[in-house]
Amino acid sequence: MSIDPAQEGARMSFDGRMSYGDYLGLDRLLTAQHPLSDAHDEMLFIIQHQTSELWMKLALLEMGAARERIAEGDLRPAFKMLTRVARIMEQLNSAWDVLRTMTPSEYSTFRPALAESSGFQSHQYRMIEFVAGNRNMAMIAPHAHRPDLADALRAEAARPSLYDEVLGRLRAAGFDVAARPALDAPHAPDAAARAAWAEVYRDPGRYWELYELAEKLVDFEDYFRRWRFNHVTTVERIIGFKRGSGGTSGVTYLRRMLDVVLFPDLWELRTAL
Ligand code: HEM
Repeated sequence: MSIDPAQEGARMSFDGRMSYGDYLGLDRLLTAQHPLSDAHDEMLFIIQHQTSELWMKLALLEMGAARERIAEGDLRPAFKMLTRVARIMEQLNSAWDVLRTMTPSEYSTFRPALAESSGFQSHQYRMIEFVAGNRNMAMIAPHAHRPDLADALRAEAARPSLYDEVLGRLRAAGFDVAARPALDAPHAPDAAARAAWAEVYRDPGRYWELYELAEKLVDFEDYFRRWRFNHVTTVERIIGFKRGSGGTSGVTYLRRMLDVVLFPDLWELRTAL
């Protein structure tokens, strides 16, 4: 006997009512994939990027809200949001397993269709870096043809980063930590901040909230580094040391990016402890 969900009380008619697909805008979402070749694997490539961008959208929302809570000194909701961001990164990390099923032979069947487009031009990825505090103004140039996106990145670089607000919490707790001199530059290690963090880590019971906050940031960076590592390994597996579609040296460039540190004070303090 097959089950009739109507008997279970399921609504079966949506004339004039909002359905699942209406609410989620599925018509638009599911017709936004436009392969430019006949290659079987191009759809995988497109969906992998699109889903990554959707998760990045959520990560940015959570990071922005966490930053606001931190600025207000309301840390507990921020902890939850930052945990969610780390889980999103974990989700993105697992996603590489799907892309890894694509071989160099398969990628080369549609590679010409991409022309010069590349994840290097992902404005959301840059925004995540900018919010976290890795602000390299040279990365805005690929968005010059889209003033709205370039302006959004510039506006972000002019406001305190997530970590700047965290430094504000150290100050509020009585630590003598100066604001960073230039907001539109990557975080540089700071001796006073490192000394403050060392004190927090030597006595977690006394500074539990700051201690937890620091660990949330380290967690985020930990997952972020794994994303970069998984990306570069997948890229090497698929294109070897060929140049990237975005024009960089490819794997050599991405390996250099592995050394970029988001929160240097928090990593350096570990050696100092
Ligand atoms: C076949 C799969 C992929 C290949 C061969 C590949 C290749 C590359 C290469 C060579 C670069 C360096 C820039 C360039 O010259 O193009 C790059 C950058 C980048 N890719 Fe991918 N990629 C792949 C998949 C993905 C996916 C699924 C994402 C998810 C959104 C992604 C996001 C990025 C980002 C954000 C950058 C910029 C990294 C940075 O500047 O630090 N890539 N990719």
